[in-house]
Amino acid sequence: MGFVVAIDGPAGSGKGTITKLIAEKRNLVSIDTGAMYRCVALDCLNKGIKPNDIEGIKAILENINIELTKENGEQKVFLNGEDVSREIREPRVNEAVSPFSAIKEVRDIITPMQRKMAEKQDIIMEGRDIGTVVFPNADVKIFLDVSLEESARRRYKQNLENGIETTYENELEKLKQRNKYDSERDIVPFVKAEDAILVDSTNMSIDEVVETILKIIDEKLK
Ligand code: DC
Repeated sequence: MGFVVAIDGPAGSGKGTITKLIAEKRNLVSIDTGAMYRCVALDCLNKGIKPNDIEGIKAILENINIELTKENGEQKVFLNGEDVSREIREPRVNEAVSPFSAIKEVRDIITPMQRKMAEKQDIIMEGRDIGTVVFPNADVKIFLDVSLEESARRRYKQNLENGIETTYENELEKLKQRNKYDSERDIVPFVKAEDAILVDSTNMSIDEVVETILKIIDEKLK
Protein backbone atom coordinates (compact mmCIF):
# COMPACT_ATOMS: atom_id res chain seq x y z
CA MET A 1 0.00 0.00 0.00
CA GLY A 2 1.17 3.47 -0.83
CA PHE A 3 0.65 6.66 1.18
CA VAL A 4 -3.02 7.65 1.09
CA VAL A 5 -4.54 11.10 1.51
CA ALA A 6 -8.35 11.05 1.61
CA ILE A 7 -10.25 14.26 0.82
CA ASP A 8 -14.01 14.21 1.25
CA GLY A 9 -16.37 17.11 0.87
CA PRO A 10 -19.62 18.34 -0.64
CA ALA A 11 -20.11 19.48 -4.24
CA GLY A 12 -18.54 22.92 -4.67
CA SER A 13 -16.05 22.67 -1.80
CA GLY A 14 -13.18 23.01 -4.27
CA LYS A 15 -11.82 19.54 -3.55
CA GLY A 16 -11.09 18.85 -7.23
CA THR A 17 -8.90 21.91 -7.68
CA ILE A 18 -7.22 21.51 -4.32
CA THR A 19 -6.53 17.81 -4.77
CA LYS A 20 -4.80 18.44 -8.11
CA LEU A 21 -2.62 21.21 -6.67
CA ILE A 22 -1.56 19.14 -3.67
CA ALA A 23 -0.83 16.14 -5.90
CA GLU A 24 1.58 18.24 -7.97
CA LYS A 25 3.31 19.69 -4.93
CA ARG A 26 3.86 16.36 -3.16
CA ASN A 27 4.16 14.07 -6.16
CA LEU A 28 0.99 12.10 -5.40
CA VAL A 29 -1.33 10.58 -7.99
CA SER A 30 -4.62 12.43 -7.77
CA ILE A 31 -7.81 10.46 -8.17
CA ASP A 32 -11.23 12.00 -8.69
CA THR A 33 -13.73 9.34 -7.62
CA GLY A 34 -16.74 11.45 -8.59
CA ALA A 35 -15.53 11.05 -12.19
CA MET A 36 -15.95 7.30 -11.85
CA TYR A 37 -19.59 7.62 -10.75
CA ARG A 38 -20.07 10.12 -13.55
CA CYS A 39 -18.79 7.50 -16.04
CA VAL A 40 -21.38 4.99 -14.81
CA ALA A 41 -24.12 7.62 -15.12
CA LEU A 42 -22.96 8.66 -18.59
CA ASP A 43 -22.81 5.08 -19.85
CA CYS A 44 -26.36 4.51 -18.54
CA LEU A 45 -27.65 7.80 -20.00
CA ASN A 46 -26.17 6.98 -23.40
CA LYS A 47 -27.77 3.55 -23.37
CA GLY A 48 -31.12 4.74 -22.03
CA ILE A 49 -30.81 2.85 -18.75
CA LYS A 50 -32.66 4.38 -15.79
CA PRO A 51 -31.53 4.20 -12.14
CA ASN A 52 -34.39 1.78 -11.33
CA ASP A 53 -33.26 -0.71 -13.98
CA ILE A 54 -30.92 -2.74 -11.79
CA GLU A 55 -30.48 -5.55 -14.34
CA GLY A 56 -29.57 -3.02 -17.03
CA ILE A 57 -27.09 -1.34 -14.67
CA LYS A 58 -25.52 -4.68 -13.78
CA ALA A 59 -24.99 -5.38 -17.48
CA ILE A 60 -23.30 -1.98 -17.86
CA LEU A 61 -21.06 -2.69 -14.86
CA GLU A 62 -20.00 -6.08 -16.19
CA ASN A 63 -18.43 -4.45 -19.23
CA ILE A 64 -17.37 -1.07 -17.89
CA ASN A 65 -13.79 0.06 -18.22
CA ILE A 66 -12.85 3.32 -16.53
CA GLU A 67 -9.38 4.77 -16.82
CA LEU A 68 -8.08 7.90 -15.13
CA THR A 69 -4.90 9.11 -16.78
CA LYS A 70 -2.77 12.20 -17.09
CA GLU A 71 -1.75 13.53 -20.50
CA ASN A 72 0.51 16.58 -20.81
CA GLY A 73 -0.29 17.50 -17.23
CA GLU A 74 -4.02 17.27 -17.81
CA GLN A 75 -6.27 14.71 -16.15
CA LYS A 76 -8.23 12.59 -18.60
CA VAL A 77 -11.10 10.21 -18.05
CA PHE A 78 -11.69 7.32 -20.45
CA LEU A 79 -14.91 5.33 -20.50
CA ASN A 80 -14.64 2.09 -22.47
CA GLY A 81 -11.70 3.54 -24.40
CA GLU A 82 -13.35 6.86 -25.22
CA ASP A 83 -12.19 10.21 -23.83
CA VAL A 84 -15.21 11.51 -21.86
CA SER A 85 -13.34 14.09 -19.75
CA ARG A 86 -15.61 16.90 -20.95
CA GLU A 87 -18.81 14.96 -21.37
CA ILE A 88 -18.95 13.79 -17.75
CA ARG A 89 -19.08 17.47 -16.63
CA GLU A 90 -22.12 18.31 -18.75
CA PRO A 91 -25.24 19.50 -16.91
CA ARG A 92 -27.15 16.36 -17.99
CA VAL A 93 -24.60 14.22 -16.12
CA ASN A 94 -24.59 16.58 -13.09
CA GLU A 95 -28.31 16.11 -12.90
CA ALA A 96 -28.34 12.34 -13.39
CA VAL A 97 -25.36 11.15 -11.37
CA SER A 98 -26.60 11.16 -7.75
CA PRO A 99 -29.19 8.35 -8.08
CA PHE A 100 -26.68 6.13 -9.90
CA SER A 101 -24.06 6.71 -7.19
CA ALA A 102 -26.62 5.65 -4.57
CA ILE A 103 -26.94 2.11 -5.99
CA LYS A 104 -25.26 -0.65 -4.00
CA GLU A 105 -24.29 -2.65 -7.09
CA VAL A 106 -22.53 0.41 -8.50
CA ARG A 107 -20.55 1.08 -5.32
CA ASP A 108 -19.67 -2.60 -4.98
CA ILE A 109 -17.82 -2.38 -8.31
CA ILE A 110 -16.35 1.11 -8.00
CA THR A 111 -15.00 0.88 -4.43
CA PRO A 112 -12.62 -2.07 -5.10
CA MET A 113 -11.38 -0.29 -8.25
CA GLN A 114 -10.47 2.67 -6.03
CA ARG A 115 -8.69 0.51 -3.45
CA LYS A 116 -6.65 -1.11 -6.19
CA MET A 117 -5.35 2.29 -7.28
CA ALA A 118 -3.46 2.69 -3.99
CA GLU A 119 -1.69 -0.64 -4.19
CA LYS A 120 1.38 0.51 -6.06
CA GLN A 121 1.44 4.29 -5.78
CA ASP A 122 1.06 7.18 -3.35
CA ILE A 123 -2.31 8.81 -3.87
CA ILE A 124 -4.57 11.67 -2.95
CA MET A 125 -8.16 10.62 -3.56
CA GLU A 126 -11.19 12.88 -3.40
CA GLY A 127 -14.85 12.00 -3.04
CA ARG A 128 -17.58 11.47 -0.47
CA ASP A 129 -16.68 8.18 1.22
CA ILE A 130 -12.92 7.96 0.92
CA GLY A 131 -12.13 8.44 4.63
CA THR A 132 -15.17 6.48 5.81
CA VAL A 133 -15.40 3.49 3.46
CA VAL A 134 -12.73 3.28 0.77
CA PHE A 135 -9.73 3.95 3.02
CA PRO A 136 -10.81 4.02 6.67
CA ASN A 137 -7.10 3.73 7.56
CA ALA A 138 -5.90 6.52 5.25
CA ASP A 139 -2.69 8.23 6.39
CA VAL A 140 -4.38 11.64 6.20
CA LYS A 141 -8.11 12.34 6.23
CA ILE A 142 -9.50 15.75 5.40
CA PHE A 143 -13.11 16.84 5.36
CA LEU A 144 -13.25 19.91 3.15
CA ASP A 145 -16.41 21.83 3.89
CA VAL A 146 -18.00 24.96 2.41
CA SER A 147 -21.23 26.86 2.98
CA LEU A 148 -23.97 26.19 0.48
CA GLU A 149 -24.09 29.87 -0.51
CA GLU A 150 -20.36 30.07 -1.21
CA SER A 151 -20.37 26.84 -3.23
CA ALA A 152 -23.27 28.18 -5.31
CA ARG A 153 -21.34 31.42 -5.92
CA ARG A 154 -18.30 29.40 -7.08
CA ARG A 155 -20.41 27.16 -9.36
CA TYR A 156 -22.18 30.19 -10.81
CA LYS A 157 -18.89 31.90 -11.59
CA GLN A 158 -17.39 28.71 -13.05
CA ASN A 159 -20.38 28.22 -15.35
CA LEU A 160 -20.24 31.81 -16.58
CA GLU A 161 -16.55 31.36 -17.35
CA ASN A 162 -17.38 28.22 -19.32
CA GLY A 163 -20.14 29.99 -21.22
CA ILE A 164 -22.95 28.05 -19.51
CA GLU A 165 -26.01 30.19 -18.90
CA THR A 166 -27.33 29.99 -15.35
CA THR A 167 -28.33 32.04 -12.31
CA TYR A 168 -27.01 32.02 -8.76
CA GLU A 169 -30.42 30.89 -7.48
CA ASN A 170 -30.47 28.00 -9.95
CA GLU A 171 -27.03 26.80 -8.84
CA LEU A 172 -27.98 27.17 -5.17
CA GLU A 173 -31.09 25.04 -5.63
CA LYS A 174 -29.27 22.33 -7.61
CA LEU A 175 -26.45 22.08 -5.07
CA LYS A 176 -28.92 21.99 -2.21
CA GLN A 177 -30.75 19.08 -3.80
CA ARG A 178 -27.59 17.17 -4.72
CA ASN A 179 -26.03 17.53 -1.26
CA LYS A 180 -29.31 16.55 0.38
CA TYR A 181 -29.60 13.49 -1.85
CA ASP A 182 -25.99 12.42 -1.24
CA SER A 183 -26.32 12.87 2.55
CA GLU A 184 -29.67 11.15 2.95
CA ARG A 185 -29.21 8.15 0.66
CA ASP A 186 -29.43 4.71 2.30
CA ILE A 187 -26.20 3.40 0.80
CA VAL A 188 -23.01 4.94 2.22
CA PRO A 189 -24.55 8.31 3.05
CA PHE A 190 -22.07 11.13 2.77
CA VAL A 191 -20.80 11.94 6.29
CA LYS A 192 -17.57 13.20 7.82
CA ALA A 193 -15.31 10.46 9.18
CA GLU A 194 -14.98 10.96 12.92
CA ASP A 195 -11.21 11.19 12.69
CA ALA A 196 -11.11 13.43 9.61
CA ILE A 197 -9.66 16.92 10.07
CA LEU A 198 -12.23 19.56 9.21
CA VAL A 199 -11.10 22.36 6.90
CA ASP A 200 -13.81 24.92 6.15
CA SER A 201 -12.99 26.59 2.84
CA THR A 202 -15.85 29.09 2.92
CA ASN A 203 -13.71 32.12 3.71
CA MET A 204 -10.39 30.79 2.48
CA SER A 205 -8.57 31.28 -0.81
CA ILE A 206 -7.43 28.24 -2.80
CA ASP A 207 -3.83 28.93 -1.73
CA GLU A 208 -4.82 29.09 1.92
CA VAL A 209 -6.63 25.75 1.74
CA VAL A 210 -3.69 24.15 -0.09
CA GLU A 211 -1.23 25.47 2.51
CA THR A 212 -3.39 24.25 5.39
CA ILE A 213 -3.69 20.75 3.99
CA LEU A 214 -0.02 20.57 3.00
CA LYS A 215 0.95 21.30 6.60
CA ILE A 216 -1.21 18.39 7.78
CA ILE A 217 0.27 16.05 5.16
CA ASP A 218 3.85 17.09 5.86
CA GLU A 219 3.36 16.48 9.56
CA LYS A 220 2.42 12.86 8.69
CA LEU A 221 5.26 12.44 6.21
CA LYS A 222 7.87 13.44 8.81
O1 DC B 1 -17.76 15.00 -6.79
P1 DC B 1 -18.72 14.87 -7.97
O2 DC B 1 -19.71 15.99 -8.07
O3 DC B 1 -18.02 14.68 -9.28
O4 DC B 1 -19.56 13.55 -7.66
C1 DC B 1 -20.54 13.06 -8.53
C2 DC B 1 -21.56 12.22 -7.75
O5 DC B 1 -20.98 11.01 -7.26
C3 DC B 1 -22.19 12.91 -6.54
O6 DC B 1 -23.59 12.76 -6.61
C4 DC B 1 -21.67 12.18 -5.35
C5 DC B 1 -21.20 10.87 -5.88
N1 DC B 1 -19.97 10.41 -5.27
C6 DC B 1 -20.06 9.42 -4.31
O7 DC B 1 -21.15 9.00 -3.96
N2 DC B 1 -18.92 8.94 -3.75
C7 DC B 1 -17.72 9.40 -4.11
N3 DC B 1 -16.62 8.89 -3.55
C8 DC B 1 -17.61 10.42 -5.08
C9 DC B 1 -18.77 10.91 -5.64
